[in-house]
Amino acid sequence: MKKHIVLLPGDGIGPEVTQAAKKMLEAVAERYQHTFTFESQEIGGSAIDSQGTPLPEDTIEACKKADAIFLGAVGGPKWDHLPGHMRPEKGLLGIRKQMELFANLRPVKAFQQLLHASPLKPEVVAGSDLLIVRELTGGLYFGEPSERKNNGTQVVDTLAYQKHEIERIVEKAFESARVRRKHLTSVDKANVLESSRMWREIVEEKKHDYPEVTVEHMLVDAAAMKLVTNPTAFDVIVTENMFGDILSDEASVLTGSLGMLPSASIRTDGVGLYEPVHGSAPDIAGQDKANPLAAILSVAMMLKHSFQMEEEAEQVEKAVADVLAERFHTSDLSISNGVKVSGSVLAKKVVEQL
Ligand code: NAI
Ligand code: MG
Repeated sequence: MKKHIVLLPGDGIGPEVTQAAKKMLEAVAERYQHTFTFESQEIGGSAIDSQGTPLPEDTIEACKKADAIFLGAVGGPKWDHLPGHMRPEKGLLGIRKQMELFANLRPVKAFQQLLHASPLKPEVVAGSDLLIVRELTGGLYFGEPSERKNNGTQVVDTLAYQKHEIERIVEKAFESARVRRKHLTSVDKANVLESSRMWREIVEEKKHDYPEVTVEHMLVDAAAMKLVTNPTAFDVIVTENMFGDILSDEASVLTGSLGMLPSASIRTDGVGLYEPVHGSAPDIAGQDKANPLAAILSVAMMLKHSFQMEEEAEQVEKAVADVLAERFHTSDLSISNGVKVSGSVLAKKVVEQL
């Protein structure tokens, strides 16, 4: 198959992990005789520095023509002084919105080799395998008005949804649950928020189309607790933008490091943007310490969700598990009797394993 992939390395460790992702894609192309072509574009802080905007037109145009997009990370202290609309994060929010990538899939799986890397008890973490389906282009992060008023003495953010926006994310979650363990937990704050009550109604309506999936509603505070006390109780979680943002960072402790978590942001036609969940990690940028596994696992998601390359995706995941089984790891992870290596060496090991 022929596929064109746009790379958006971004800032901090973004370029380092993007390099690892690209090498993995090249290895997959070679082994399975695909043709992947690549094109790099700027986004975030580096785009602000060179083009004066976090989301240049050229970047948007390139992404619109791509079969899939890979993004490293954006942001850093260098740009923290900029006003909200000019910040690197606007580039990321903007590309998700412009491409209508409304469904953010964040799988969280506890690798057997990393059970002791989590601060949680290994017996709690063992067997955790869940998928957070986060709504990505609406809700609290996009609602208007979002502003300060009355000489700065009042402030407002808005949690707004159109019915169809909730319907499409709920459908995506049911479809994901159907091909997994067939259990869906819809997370909201229906005891307080009107938007959550509508969310619940829609889940209740849609569940009739998926009779094989069991459905449960959970308040977000209770879900936050259960994620770290009984994570194996979850299969698929579907939730609003901000709730999903927070819960997925929380869920990262199950895996031992933020550097292990991949994500996919997709829309109905299969076009998607793939990125590690972590940020630009300015504290370790440029030191070849960044864990490349979140990026490499994001490549597996690209192969599966945008290219329907199931076998290739599985082999990438297996290569990661095999290298962990040999106890190779970067410094963000602790593995007993492990072999600590740099980010580029770890990436090379996984590529060679494939
Ligand atoms: P972060 O995810 O960049 O870092 C949090 C901690 O995890 C740091 O100690 C970092 O060293 C470590 N870490 C993250 N990824 C790692 C990896 N692959 N390997 C090893 N260690 C890793 O979050 P933080 O510090 O809150 O934000 C830093 C910058 O990144 C900010 O400017 C923030 O706005 C931005 N950010 C960007 C995101 C994106 O592009 N999707 C997401 C989150 C934050
Ligand atoms: Mg986050």
